[in-house]
Amino acid sequence: MKKRLLIVDDDKDSTSALVRQLAESTWLEICGIATGIDEAWQMLQTTLPDMVMLGTIKGAERGVVCQQFRLAYPQLSFIAACSPQELMWEPFFRNLGLWVIVKPVQTGQLEALTMVPQAMYTGIPPQQQPAPLAATAVLSPTVSHTPQAVTENDPDPTNGVSTGPKHLITVYGPKGGVGKTFISRELAVYFTTQKQEGRPLRVLAIDFNLDLGTFATTLNLPRTPNLFTWVQDIDTQLHSYAQQQGRDPFTLRNEEWQEFASSISLSPQDIEKYIVTHTETGLHVLTSPRDIRHSFEIRDYHLYLILETLKQSMYDVILIDTAPDTTDATIQALFFAEQVVMVGNPVVDSIENIQRLLKLLREAEYPEERIQVCMNRLQRKEMFTLEEIRAYFQLHPSKKIYSVPDDAEVKKSINTGVPVMLHPGRIAAKDAIETLGKALLPVDSERVGSAPKEKTKERPSLFRWLWG
Ligand SMILES: Nc1ncnc2c1ncn2[C@@H]1O[C@H](COP(=O)(O)OP(=O)(O)OP(=O)(O)O)[C@@H](O)[C@H]1O
Ligand SMILES: [Mg+2]
Repeated sequence: MKKRLLIVDDDKDSTSALVRQLAESTWLEICGIATGIDEAWQMLQTTLPDMVMLGTIKGAERGVVCQQFRLAYPQLSFIAACSPQELMWEPFFRNLGLWVIVKPVQTGQLEALTMVPQAMYTGIPPQQQPAPLAATAVLSPTVSHTPQAVTENDPDPTNGVSTGPKHLITVYGPKGGVGKTFISRELAVYFTTQKQEGRPLRVLAIDFNLDLGTFATTLNLPRTPNLFTWVQDIDTQLHSYAQQQGRDPFTLRNEEWQEFASSISLSPQDIEKYIVTHTETGLHVLTSPRDIRHSFEIRDYHLYLILETLKQSMYDVILIDTAPDTTDATIQALFFAEQVVMVGNPVVDSIENIQRLLKLLREAEYPEERIQVCMNRLQRKEMFTLEEIRAYFQLHPSKKIYSVPDDAEVKKSINTGVPVMLHPGRIAAKDAIETLGKALLPVDSERVGSAPKEKTKERPSLFRWLWG
């Protein structure tokens, strides 16, 4: 029996092209076409579709519409049909359990989705869902990598294509100097000392502070190769693709490049050409450009391609350090992330900006459970308690606010390039980072052997003191 598709889209040209194409389909039939939300509600009731494709709908948010439809019709599966420019929302849609395809929609893409068992789109937490038909997988005429079989213990994280879920953590804070880079560095180093299912974690840190990033400096690492090296190679690939399509690369507009970028894919094996390695920990780092001017040449589509490729790499954990802004780079880092560490200091300006950011993300229906708030540089006596801050942010009562104490060792560790996580002694900030790290990703109780062992200091005991 043919699956029934309801199209909700105000782009009439795109719909009529699809109607023509699907006339021949043996798997799928269009049961209704709505150009607005009210009409769509009526058709959901009268036409009983199996699938709903959400194109552009003036004045409506696809994510919100999908959630509302799903409440009333939980058995339906949803597809977001995006223009190449809208692809930055792909991770967001995926997390809401929508399949994402790119316009112009091909019959084959829709037919392929009819084959997926119903259980795969509904009722499963987003992170356990199978990889949807992402634009790069479905549309790419030049898939440049052939997925290789990768053994569980493959030590090279840039080798092959990942099978397991990746953990992408973005460290963000809408105010400068609150400790984002410090916390990113420490979390990255902490994860290199941890194991999951007996295997050391493979960790990559990325500096998304494109113009003024200092992540490499805080680990005494060189700044070449870097993100810009990768961007230059992407441009070479895009230029030759444009030429293959009979276009002159020097006359193309940004939107046209975005479109071309959605048609190519990069190879996860190439990542190793662009990373520097921190030898003490084995941490891989994709640093920001050495020259500020290079950062001006990095576009949203470069970053999109890079993030998509990293998601297919074999890294277990990817940490992104960001700038305190709301540029494309930062927004993409937030939407690609499985978890976000929102860093602030216990001072009003920082607290106010986090509140404003939370408001924005709530309005964009960003899944709040992904956000972990971390107050850095907490002193013994603060004007605001964590409870007061939590109430101000209107966080869910189950949500913990993490804190990292103000610690003189931090400044020293940044100046020397030696992370506090590698410090042999007891440092308060170290325990706090470890608590945060554990909350972000469950790890084995046993650590990586080479990790510096902390001397377990005996706790003072009154009895021992009395009786020796
Ligand atoms: N827990 C801490 N205790 C003491 N000092 C700290 C702590 N965390 C950060 N600092 C100090 O704050 C400075 C700024 O930290 P960091 O560079 O990590 O902030 P940032 O949020 O990344 O800044 P930017 O917005 O410029 O990227 C550090 O150089 C360090 O001296
Ligand atoms: Mg920073």
